[in-house]
Amino acid sequence: MFAKTLTVALCAISLLTLPTSASPWGKPWPKPRGDPTTLSRLVMPSSTLPPPTGLVLKFVGLGIGTQNYTCATPSSIAVPASDGALATLYDLGTRLNTDPMATWKIGSLSGLALSLSSYTNILDVYLQSQGYSRVLGKHFFTSAMVPTFSLLDVLPPPIPQVNGKKNATMAAPANSCPGQDNEGAVPWLYLTDNGGSTGGVNTVYRIETAGGQPPATCDEMDATFTVPYAAQYWIYGPAS
Ligand SMILES: *[C@@H]1O[C@H](CO)[C@@H](O)[C@H](O)[C@H]1NC(C)=O
Ligand SMILES: *[C@@H]1O[C@H](CO)[C@@H](O)[C@H](O)[C@H]1NC(C)=O
Repeated sequence: MFAKTLTVALCAISLLTLPTSASPWGKPWPKPRGDPTTLSRLVMPSSTLPPPTGLVLKFVGLGIGTQNYTCATPSSIAVPASDGALATLYDLGTRLNTDPMATWKIGSLSGLALSLSSYTNILDVYLQSQGYSRVLGKHFFTSAMVPTFSLLDVLPPPIPQVNGKKNATMAAPANSCPGQDNEGAVPWLYLTDNGGSTGGVNTVYRIETAGGQPPATCDEMDATFTVPYAAQYWIYGPAS
């Protein structure tokens, strides 16, 4: 609890230094969402995941929500099982693409957003002040446990949606934000089309993760529980 309060206090201090105007550089924005030419200046942080060969970056979403888990019995020899996730995806890409500080911000904003997310008003102020408050859509799992990224709020139709499947994974870097209670950061992932993806997108990278890991065992855990997390979802598709 003390660590959590400290994290929030530190982040609150950094908030004071944020620009308060919605357009701090006086340039017009936003640009149309999903225009494949608009994100050309963004470079995905390097990782050991397979590269997006031949694909174009279409969206960068900041996901803030929960990773869900189940524990069959509250035992210290049982291990929590993943039970999907639910997150709101905020439009990071449009704003970051015109931000000369983007490279620096990409590495820190998942942890900052997670630390602010227990205080809805503060999170909203942060997202608005930085130009990240527009919602792209949601990340959820279908009843068949297909990880889905549905950018329902992106106009015009067809809705960009990736029905994903995990193709590759890597442990989050050691300096990742471990979460509100030091749970650890969920792995980085490379997800490819599971069939039926629409709207010009077919590939998702979950990177820059913060929090979301379950405890090592089911000791004293409920049958279902959630762990708060944030991550960046870099969403790609074919050029045309
Ligand atoms: C995950 O937990 C959230 C509560 O944070 C819940 O609304 C959602 O339905 C859960 N999703 C799954 C797949 O269990
Ligand atoms: C994983 O992605 C690569 C492309 O990076 C693809 O060639 C391969 O078929 C995919 N594997 C699975 C199991 O989807």
